Amino acid sequence: MTADPSPTPARYRIAAIPADGVGAEVVAAGRSVLDALAAGSGGAFSFDWTEFPWGSRYYAETGAMMADDGLDRLKEFDAIYFGAVGWPTVPDHISLWGLRLRVCQGFDQWANVRPVRFLPGVLSPLRAADRAELDWVVVRENSEGEYAGFGGRNFAGRGAGGEVAVQSSVFTETGCERIIRFAFDLARTRERRKVSSVTKSNAQQYGMVLWDEVFRRVAADYPDVETESVLVDAMAAKFVLRPEELSVVVASNLNADILSDLGSALAGSLGLAASANLNPERAWPSMFEPVHGSAPDIAGQGVANPIGAVGSAAMMLDHFGLSEQAGRLNRAIAATTAAGVLPRDLGGRASTAEVTAAIIDALAD
Ligand SMILES: NC(=O)c1ccc[n+]([C@@H]2O[C@H](COP(=O)([O-])OP(=O)(O)OC[C@H]3O[C@@H](n4cnc5c(N)ncnc54)[C@H](O)[C@@H]3O)[C@@H](O)[C@H]2O)c1
Repeated sequence: MTADPSPTPARYRIAAIPADGVGAEVVAAGRSVLDALAAGSGGAFSFDWTEFPWGSRYYAETGAMMADDGLDRLKEFDAIYFGAVGWPTVPDHISLWGLRLRVCQGFDQWANVRPVRFLPGVLSPLRAADRAELDWVVVRENSEGEYAGFGGRNFAGRGAGGEVAVQSSVFTETGCERIIRFAFDLARTRERRKVSSVTKSNAQQYGMVLWDEVFRRVAADYPDVETESVLVDAMAAKFVLRPEELSVVVASNLNADILSDLGSALAGSLGLAASANLNPERAWPSMFEPVHGSAPDIAGQGVANPIGAVGSAAMMLDHFGLSEQAGRLNRAIAATTAAGVLPRDLGGRASTAEVTAAIIDALAD
């Protein structure tokens, strides 16, 4: 990601939306780590937090997942720090569309960046991880494709069993080009300059063939970057069998969503995965959130892994142009896992609070 060239404000206004389940626990962990970082910055920067109560409980009280004027209120902030949305009492498509997707689409956060980080001290089921340093990043088209929200349901009048639903994917040339160009620019900042494009263009002959054509055209502008085009099923296998060949993986909304979960599971757990929903033009606030959901099965027990949320906070620092601080935070996460302070999902016994405290301690090193 590129740093904002404009002068860095010393005080960052951040909208926190913990939302549901473990979202509240991991956002609290991320906030305390960021506040510790700011406290140690000698006044160089600080964070001004405003928390919004939106989510499934708010829905039960008001019938909406967020306030009607929610986007208007959020647009005043430098960034949004998000937990996770979804609870068994609200249908998933209502909670997701009513809050998270409303923010992503309302603020045109068209690039979703999801690093796959293998941490020291965390055993991966991927044997190659024991010998190679694995680290790649999934760039997800975040505004259209399979999640464009086009379609409808009809024929309910035909009676039970007669209804029909159409869910269409939408691929625009502009949408493909901007995310693919973003992936190439990101590849230029990495040690291995390579972009792997993922589609299913053998079976999906319209949108994904357009994607492939745009990929070839954009690639011609980046002769210094290695490329490959891989079908999504083959890429799933490659994540497991030859991950050392990956650097930047760019894919459509649905394909990248699935692949990035696979990547973080290979790295050890979904609880590790960080992400940034970027509006690269900076016309709107970008949103930073762990990849995982609200985990109702472990919510409220104090055992959620905070590393995905803390890693997302590091991506937010990078977005503010505080790259050195972001690096410091990522090193503190690695020092924590290397020292064996692991939460339950990584085979350890540390609570959310203990992992968070260990990360804060490691910031001092
Ligand atoms: N970005 C989002 O807000 C988002 C993403 C995915 C799912 N969801 C929603 O979350 C709800 C639950 O969905 P799900 O169960 O499919 O996915 P999930 O990510 O909530 O949970 C999947 C599994 O991973 C574990 N897990 C997740 N986060 C963890 C953490 N921080 N530490 C330790 N273990 C963790 C859970 O315990 C569970 O076993 C649904 O309502 C779904 O719609 C929201």
